[in-house]
Amino acid sequence: MESMFYSEDDLKKLGFKSIGENVLLSKKASFYGEQEISLGSNVRIDDFCILSGKINLSNYVHIGAGSYLIGGAKGITFDDFAGCSQRVCIYAVSDDYSGNSLTNPTVPDRYKRLTEGAVYLEKYVIVGAGSIVLPSVRIREGTAIGALSLVSRSTEPWKIYFGSPAIPLRNRSQKILDLEKDFLSEETLKNHDLQKKQE
Ligand SMILES: CC(C)(COP(=O)(O)OP(=O)(O)OC[C@H]1O[C@@H](n2cnc3c(N)ncnc32)[C@H](O)[C@@H]1OP(=O)(O)O)[C@@H](O)C(=O)NCCC(=O)NCCS
Repeated sequence: MESMFYSEDDLKKLGFKSIGENVLLSKKASFYGEQEISLGSNVRIDDFCILSGKINLSNYVHIGAGSYLIGGAKGITFDDFAGCSQRVCIYAVSDDYSGNSLTNPTVPDRYKRLTEGAVYLEKYVIVGAGSIVLPSVRIREGTAIGALSLVSRSTEPWKIYFGSPAIPLRNRSQKILDLEKDFLSEETLKNHDLQKKQE
């Protein structure tokens, strides 16, 4: 059966700014402005995602099916082990909803005023299904966002948030930090063994 993900050769031809190893990109995902998109290693992007504008995904990042990352000029960054579930929308650029300007992409820029601001998902962040993240938000290290949340303000680290607008529910366990250490040292050992076998 043909793979649902691009082959390594095809990935190189897509024209991303940079791309690491072990990257799984669904052939059903769409990318606009690939030259502004950087992908680290061990990244997976699932069916029906749309990525546009400036985007930087680090290592061990997952973008769940049907998620939209609209990076614009300011950009969206996912740090290591950050990810989003299905149908998450993240905007680093948005139309102005105040009524002081026209909206929509078919209207000339001189009639519009965009709301722009870089969005940052720090290490270990997870965003639950159907959530929305607005421009200029920084989701700090270890934050989890519950399903169907609206994140319009930056978060505190290591808390579980939920709701619209998202508010903190409780602290999040930091056991992740120990697990990351174990996992990465296991990976280093595996790579070392593999290298030895190839020598
Ligand atoms: C936020 C979340 C992590 C909390 O889980 P939890 O710690 O087990 O919390 P509970 O289920 O005990 O809920 C605590 C309260 O918050 C409410 N609540 C939980 N998640 C909520 C959400 N996303 N939106 C609104 N209210 C929510 C519950 O109804 C409950 O209210 P109550 O005390 O009045 O009964 C979880 O509900 C969630 O949204 N997970 C996301 C999962 C997801 O998107 N998975 C996709 C595949 S990766």
